[in-house]
Amino acid sequence: MDFKLTEEQLMIREAARDFAQNVLKPGVIERDRDMVHPTEYIKQMGELGFMGLMTADKYGGAGMDTMSYAIAIEELSKIDASSSVIMSAHNSLALWGIENYGEEALKEKYLPQMTSGEMIGAFCLSEPEAGSDATSQRTTAEDKGDHYLINGTKNWITNGKKAGAYVVIAQTDVEKRHKGINAFLVDATSAGVTTGVKEDKLGIRSSDTSSVMFQDVKVPKENRLGPEGFGFKFAMKTLDGGRIGIAAQALGIAAGAYELALAYSHERSAFGKPINNHQAIAFKLAQMAMKIEAGRMLVYRAAWLKDQGEDYAQAAAMAKLYTSDTAMEITTEAVQVHGGYGYVKEYHVERLMRDAKITQIYEGTSEIQHLVISRNIIKGDIYIPLG
Ligand code: CAA
Repeated sequence: MDFKLTEEQLMIREAARDFAQNVLKPGVIERDRDMVHPTEYIKQMGELGFMGLMTADKYGGAGMDTMSYAIAIEELSKIDASSSVIMSAHNSLALWGIENYGEEALKEKYLPQMTSGEMIGAFCLSEPEAGSDATSQRTTAEDKGDHYLINGTKNWITNGKKAGAYVVIAQTDVEKRHKGINAFLVDATSAGVTTGVKEDKLGIRSSDTSSVMFQDVKVPKENRLGPEGFGFKFAMKTLDGGRIGIAAQALGIAAGAYELALAYSHERSAFGKPINNHQAIAFKLAQMAMKIEAGRMLVYRAAWLKDQGEDYAQAAAMAKLYTSDTAMEITTEAVQVHGGYGYVKEYHVERLMRDAKITQIYEGTSEIQHLVISRNIIKGDIYIPLG
C-alpha cells in the first residue's frame, strides 16, 4: 500500500492551498455575510485548471485524477466551502456526466467553455417533492420526435442562478417509473428557463442555491445524456462521484477548523499556561486529528477506487457519511476550544461550523448514505476494504 502522494498531487495541493490562503481568504467573511458570489475567483479557478480538473485535456480540462480533485477540494474547503461547492457541483455533477454520456458534438460545444470557468454547470435532480426519493420525479420530458419538451421545477440547485448549462433529470414515461427517466443538458438561455431567488442559507452563503423552473422548454434530442431511460442510473452514478467531492469538502471544513483550533490553543493562555497544556484541550485536539486522518483515508480510498475503475459507490457513501458527521463534530469542538472568540465571525470557526451542516444534507442526507451502505451489506455485497 502506497500512501505517498504523486508529484502532480503534491503540486495541486500546493496550488489550491496557495489560492485559498492568498485569494479566497481575504473577503471570505464579507462574502459569507452579504451572500456575494465569488464570480471573479471562479474565473481564476478556471485559469488554474480547477474548473475542469478531471476532464480530458482535449476539452480544455486538466485531465487529472480523482485523488487530485479530492485534494484540491479539501484545501479550498479549509478556507472557503462556498467556492469549493461551486467547483464540486460543476466538476462532479455537471462535467462528469456530460463527458461520459454526452454525444461528441455536445461535448465539443459545451465542455471547453465549462472547463475554462466561463460557463458554470449545475445538476437539477431535487424537486419540491422529490429530494431523497429521487425516483418520484414530477418534472416531465415529453418526447416530441426531434426534441423533448421539459416542464417542472427543481429545488435547492447549487449554481442555480449562475449556471449556463443544466444537467436535468426528468420523467419521460411515468408507467416505467425509474426506467422512464432521462437526463438532459439544458442550455440556460433556452426559452422557458427561469430561476427563483437566491436562497438565504445557514452556511455556504456565498454560493448560489435556487430553484430552477422549466416551462415548455424545447431540448434537442442530441442533448439527452445516455440512452433512453437511463436517467435514473445516470443520476445515481453522478451522485456516487459527487459524494467524493462532498466528502472531500467535509474533510477540508473539519481540517480547517482543526488548524484554527490548534493555532489558537498555542496563543491562548489560561491558568498560567497555553490552553493546549491542559488535558481538556489537548485531548480534544488529539480526537480531532485522529478523526481527520480516518476521514482522509476514506476519502482518498474512494477516489483511488474510482481512478482504478473499480466500483466506488459504497466507498463514496462511507466517506461522505463519516466525514460529514465528523465535520459537524470537529467544527463544534473547534468553536469550543476558541471559547467566546469562536462564537464571533472574525475567528472563522463559526462559519466553518455553519458550512459543515450542509455536508450532512446535500448529495444525499446522512440517512441516505446509511441506506446505501446498509442495503449493499444486507444484500450480501459485503464491503471488505482491504481484502
Ligand atoms: N449506480 C448505478 N445504478 C444504481 C445505483 C448506483 N449507485 N443506485 C441504484 N441504482 C439502480 C439500481 O440498480 C436499480 O436498477 P434496476 O431497476 O435495473 O435494478 C435502480 O437504480 C433503482 O434503484 P433502487 O431501487 O435502489 O432505487 P430507490 O428508489 O430505492 O433509491 C436511493 C435509491 C439510494 C435512495 C436514491 O434515490 C438516492 O440516492 N437518493 C438520494 C438522492 C440525492 O442525493 N438527492 C440530492 C442530490 S442533488 C443535490 O444535492 C443538489 C446539489 O446541487 C448539490
